[in-house]
Amino acid sequence: MSTQGKSSRPDKVTTQTVVEMKRSGEKISMLTAYDFTMAGIVDSAGIDVILVGDSASNVMAGFDTTIPMTLDHMIYHTSCVVRAVQRALVIADLPFMTYQVTAKEALINAGRMMKEAGAHAVKLEGGKTITETVRKIVDAGIPVMGHLGLTPQSIYKFGTYKVRAKDQKEADQLLQDAKKLEEAGVFSIVLEKIPSELARQVTELVSVPTIGIGAGPNCDGQVLVLHDMLGLNKDFSPRFLRRYSDLHEIMKDAVGRYVYDVKSGDFPNETEQY
Ligand code: KIV
Repeated sequence: MSTQGKSSRPDKVTTQTVVEMKRSGEKISMLTAYDFTMAGIVDSAGIDVILVGDSASNVMAGFDTTIPMTLDHMIYHTSCVVRAVQRALVIADLPFMTYQVTAKEALINAGRMMKEAGAHAVKLEGGKTITETVRKIVDAGIPVMGHLGLTPQSIYKFGTYKVRAKDQKEADQLLQDAKKLEEAGVFSIVLEKIPSELARQVTELVSVPTIGIGAGPNCDGQVLVLHDMLGLNKDFSPRFLRRYSDLHEIMKDAVGRYVYDVKSGDFPNETEQY
């Protein structure tokens, strides 16, 4: 098995580990996963953090946005991932409308994610409007990751998946939001699709690690959606995505050969029966 790029830290990754990694300058690797089998592979390859993202809505359920995801969906996916993982820190997205209404409701829902799914932390999208909620969840002992920039749960407000905070006003607001999230107690912040220079400024401004997706190399870590980096979504090719495999073609070829073998009577042969 390849151990290329494996972290020098063999122990279980905790929220303290990732904060310490920022301090020591070790980059943090993060990928999404949504099921037991994939999470086991990702964990065994040495990933530091697994995000059970509400991108499950797109890649697992086939929706166009993350809006339809429910707390029960996310609890199901997260529990599948948690059962597979031995080392990585597992963070679960709280889906749309499970934390925006009241801080109390958000705390109850974050608590369900911890108790029923076994998540190690939760992720919430947004800046100053959710700081009271973040504080309440953190005060209850639940670690929170923030998420700024392109926040897909607000897609109908933005109207587009284009790069955020290119103008100074939005960039200034994002810097303020990052500081406010840090003050509210987040242990880390995802920066999605923002200019590389702004990501550098946020990373220098806050003491907690930033994890970028389409935010350039100056973040403390990087995250990609597993299905995208494995080449399972052949039609999704944003500039920030690096594909590490072409699983779409590899799987299609394997299934095609199986169909052929069944139809031709080649499968099963004498050694593949009882
Ligand atoms: O849901 C998700 O997968 C995410 C990542 C893109 C950061 O939030």
